[in-house]
This record gives sequence, C-alpha cells and structure tokens, in this order.
Amino acid sequence: MSNSPEAAEPSLYERLGGVYSIADVVDDFIDRIMDDPQLNANPKVDEAHHRVSRAGFKYLVTEMVCWATGGPQQYTGRSMKDSHQDLDITAAEWQVFLNDFQQTLDKFDVPDAERQELFAIVDSTKADIVIG
Ligand code: HEM
Repeated sequence: MSNSPEAAEPSLYERLGGVYSIADVVDDFIDRIMDDPQLNANPKVDEAHHRVSRAGFKYLVTEMVCWATGGPQQYTGRSMKDSHQDLDITAAEWQVFLNDFQQTLDKFDVPDAERQELFAIVDSTKADIVIG
C-alpha cells in the first residue's frame, strides 16, 4: 500500500528500555541524591529526605519518569511546585542535583540522544523547584 504509515518513532520510554530499566536508573539516582551531603546541607531537604520512605520516593519518581518519557503510567504524586516550594532549593543545589544525575547516566551508559532528552525534561521543571 502506497499510503501505509511509516513505523512510529519509538518513544523515549521505549528507547530507555521501559519500566524495569527506568526503575533501575531511578533506584541509583535517588540513593545518590538522598545521601548527598551537599543536598542534605539544606536543612529542609535533609528533614524531608529523612521523613519520606525511600521506597515510596523511588516509586513516585519512577512513575513520573515513565509518564514523562511517554510510557503508559500515570503520575499519582503531588505537583513539582507543591512538593518543592517549601524546600528553599537554590540554583547551586540544582547544579549539585544535575551533577548527581549525570553520574547516574554515566553509570548506566545512557546514550547522548536519550541523555539530552532527559536533561530537557528535567530542565522543564526547574522553575517549579528552584527558588526564584
Ligand atoms: C527534575 C527534578 C525533580 C523531580 C522530577 C523530582 C521529583 C519528585 C517527586 C516525584 C517527589 C514526590 C512528590 C510527592 O510526595 O507526591 C519529590 C519530592 C521531593 N523532592 Fe524532588 N524532584 C526533583 C528535584 C529535586 C531537587 C533538586 C531536590 C533537592 C535536593 C529535591 C528534593 C525533594 C524532597 C526532599 C522531596 C520530599 C518532599 C516532601 O515530601 O516533603 N527534588 N520530588
């Protein structure tokens, strides 16, 4: 058929390997940020990191990344603004967070194209997370 559609471009979710691969990456990254002394130097972040369950936090972030990359999951947690606005996260802390993210992506050998798309997604949330 001359009109048959081209095969659809695989979503970022599919290119990352779906929920099992994404959950592995989130597992490493959340351990990294929850244990990062530079982030826990912010007393509000330190308090929240020790109040919430690590497994629950990983669950919500996995859900969110799957949803944001085009997977079938729905994100059921609070908005980025609601969950971060009282934490007083500075631009310097945001850089530390991005550096931790980079280290996780290095560990899992995430290719450049996928890495850039993930950074674009992360960057799109900055205004809701960092104090202005
Ligand atoms: C793209 C960037 C980020 C994403 C996608 C993200 C994602 C999330 C999600 C899904 C939650 C759970 C929301 C809920 O409880 O319903 C959360 C909470 C939290 N995030 Fe982030 N986050 C980001 C950046 C940051 C940064 C830079 C920090 C600073 C270290 C941070 C620290 C926290 C803390 C401490 C909580 C727990 C808040 C509480 O329950 O009181 N997050 N985040």
